[in-house]
Amino acid sequence: MNDTKQRILFVFGTRPEAIKLAPVILHGLDRRMEFDVRVCVTGQHRQMLDQVLELFGIKPDVDLNLMQPGQDLFDLTSRVLLAMRSVLREIRPVWIVVQGDTTTVWTAALAAFYEGVKVAHVEAGLRTFDKRQPFPEEINRRLCTQLADLHLAPTAQAKANLIAERIDEADVVVTGNSVIDALLWVCARMKQTSIPDVLAVEEWAGKTIGTSPMVLITGHRRESFGKGFEEICAAIAELARAFPNYQWVYPVHLNPNVQEPVNRSLRGIGNIHLTEPKTYPAFAWLMQRAALILTDSGGVQEEAPSLGKRVLVMRNTTERPEGVDAGCIMLVGNSREGIVKAVRAHLGNPQDLQVDPGRNPYGDGRASQRILDAMAQRSR
Ligand code: UD1
Ligand code: UDP
Repeated sequence: MNDTKQRILFVFGTRPEAIKLAPVILHGLDRRMEFDVRVCVTGQHRQMLDQVLELFGIKPDVDLNLMQPGQDLFDLTSRVLLAMRSVLREIRPVWIVVQGDTTTVWTAALAAFYEGVKVAHVEAGLRTFDKRQPFPEEINRRLCTQLADLHLAPTAQAKANLIAERIDEADVVVTGNSVIDALLWVCARMKQTSIPDVLAVEEWAGKTIGTSPMVLITGHRRESFGKGFEEICAAIAELARAFPNYQWVYPVHLNPNVQEPVNRSLRGIGNIHLTEPKTYPAFAWLMQRAALILTDSGGVQEEAPSLGKRVLVMRNTTERPEGVDAGCIMLVGNSREGIVKAVRAHLGNPQDLQVDPGRNPYGDGRASQRILDAMAQRSR
């Protein structure tokens, strides 16, 4: 065995972490002379995680299978922390690699710190500077910054945030966001081969929405649970009635706090289509098909501009100001009034619906390579 070869353990648990780490893992497996790649999934998500593992053909070495229905933050945090102790002691990696701001991320980083394992944090440095929005992600990523040894920042702005927090510049590398690597990968695959889920969504769309213009919706943020979701749903219902020629497609997140209000408020309105969460290729197809995207998702904000789509973000704060500055995304808040006003303005002006994909500030599809180059450099 090459004695400079580093054992790196990828740890992730939810759909967006899996999508954003999959290209890094596949690239790491291609560089097997440099890296001994291992994968641990916490299973913070189950169905939505498995969709991604299957797509990218990733077989975890360890699956902690921790998801419980309606899990709360106390249970999840303590279960991940305890489970990671034996994983780290058995696998003994030099590094763990985590991505983003979920409970899996910061808790696995804490476990690694306790065990003396170095932490590489992908998508480091995002900040809203409001500790309650997004909740709990803003605090999760700040905690992860304190625990990390290598900070892989997607943009120069994210790097500047870290430097302002007195993180050593030598430990920060700007890489772009690996979500663009994943998106380009999936779009290339869709061109090369027929993917059954894409054929199915195309057939469904052909029958159900025909040639009508379509608005694609997702939403799941914890700070919007309760009143926020009531407002979001009221806005969508009002808009669907005001624009009956538009079809409104909403793959609903499996969190029961999302399922309940969305199904109660929106099921039964003729031009609103509530569906199960789509697999990544099917969702990418829907993004391409959409006239406009309405979301509170972090990943969707980063991806959609690469497909030339404008995104209205149903949140009050963003940790992704680059997209706003580039004119790709617009923050519209989560009140009924704000959402309705912004969507009306956009649907009334079709020229406002498209963005130039070249303006996407989140990456060029080579983040995975830069992430692993940065890690390889630190082993020398
Ligand atoms: C989590 C992350 C959030 C991330 C989001 C991406 C935390 C605290 N939250 O939020 O940062 O943006 O994932 O989607 O880390 N469920 C299923 N099947 C699944 C996934 C979820 O049934 O495949 C249901 C379960 O009842 C589960 C609940 O959703 O208990 C909540 O899941 P959880 O991961 O705690 O929160 P999310 O809202 O998914
Ligand atoms: N996504 C998907 N199927 C869906 C909805 C979203 O594959 O039905 C993808 C989307 O393209 C993006 C990621 O999931 O890459 C975003 O996940 P989510 O919104 O759950 O989390 P966030 O990015 O807000 O943390």
